[in-house]
Amino acid sequence: MADNEGNIDAKSFGVGVPQTQEQFFLKGNENASYGIKSRLSQVFNKKSGHTVMLAFDHGFIMGPTSGLERIDLTINPLIEYSDCIMCTRGILRSVIPPTANKPISFRADGGTTILTSLNDETLIDIEEAVRLNVSLLAIMVAIGDPDHEGSTIRNLTKTVDLGQRYGIPTLGVTAVGKNLTRDSRYLGLATRVCAENGANVIKTYYCDEKFEQVTNACPVPIVIAGGKKLPERDALQLAKNAIDQGAAGVDMGRNIFQADSPVAMLLAVREIVHNGATVDQAFDCYETYKNQAK
Ligand code: 5RP
Repeated sequence: MADNEGNIDAKSFGVGVPQTQEQFFLKGNENASYGIKSRLSQVFNKKSGHTVMLAFDHGFIMGPTSGLERIDLTINPLIEYSDCIMCTRGILRSVIPPTANKPISFRADGGTTILTSLNDETLIDIEEAVRLNVSLLAIMVAIGDPDHEGSTIRNLTKTVDLGQRYGIPTLGVTAVGKNLTRDSRYLGLATRVCAENGANVIKTYYCDEKFEQVTNACPVPIVIAGGKKLPERDALQLAKNAIDQGAAGVDMGRNIFQADSPVAMLLAVREIVHNGATVDQAFDCYETYKNQAK
C-alpha cells in the first residue's frame, strides 16, 4: 500500500513552460489516432523519415517464387536488417519466429493467382490482424481493372474503417495487373485514389518519367515495390531515384532476396534510404558486404 507519510514534495511543475507537443513526422498522418501514429512510427524511422520494408508475400499469387522456396532458410536471416516485413498470415504463423520482433505489414487480403485473373480479393478478419500484432494492413487495390476495381476499392474502404476502429494503419497497394501501364499518369491516379479513400501509406511502382508528380500529388507517404529482378546496381539506382523524387522508402522483394548476396543488398539499400548514399557509395557497400559474407 502506498505510504502517505515521508514522501518528497512534488515541485517540478514546469510552470510557465508549455507542454511539449511534437508534430508527427510522416506527411498526411498528423490527424491520425494515437494507435495509428504509434504503429507508423514502428515501421518508419523517425530520424530519416524513411523505411526499408522487406516484401515476401509473393507466394500467395505466384506459389514458391525463386528465393522464397524455403523462407526459413532465405528470409529469416534477412529480417534483422529490415525495418518491417511484409507477408501473409500463413507464412507468418508457419515460418516467422514471433521473437523476430519486427513490425509486420500484413497481407490483409487473399486473392486469385497468376493462373487466373489476379486481384479477385477477399478480406481477412480484422481480429486475425489484431491477434498477430500487426503494424500495417496491406490491401491490394486494382485501379483500372474492369473486373476488380470496385471490389478492391470496397476492400480498401472497409479496411480503413476497421483500421480506424482498432488503431492500425492501412497500406494501399496499387495492384500488379497484367494490363496496367506503369506510367506517372496511371500511378498518380491509382495512388491518389488510395489516399482519397483513406490509406495511411501507399505502395506503388517507380516510373522513369515524372515520378515526383506521383509523390507530390499523393498526400500520404509512398513506398515503392522493386518489381522484377534487376542487376544489383540498377536496383540501387531505382531506389535512389525514388527516394530523390519523394518516396518515403521501399518495400522490396525480388531485388533483395534474389540478389547474389541478399544481406549485402539489403544493407546497401539501407544506405540509400536512410543515409542518403549515392548509388556508387551504395554499390561499394554492396560489394564490401558481399565479399565479407563469402
Ligand atoms: C504484390 C506485392 C509485392 O510484395 C511487391 O510486388 C514487392 O515485391 P517486389 O519488390 O518483388 O516487386 O505487393 O502485391
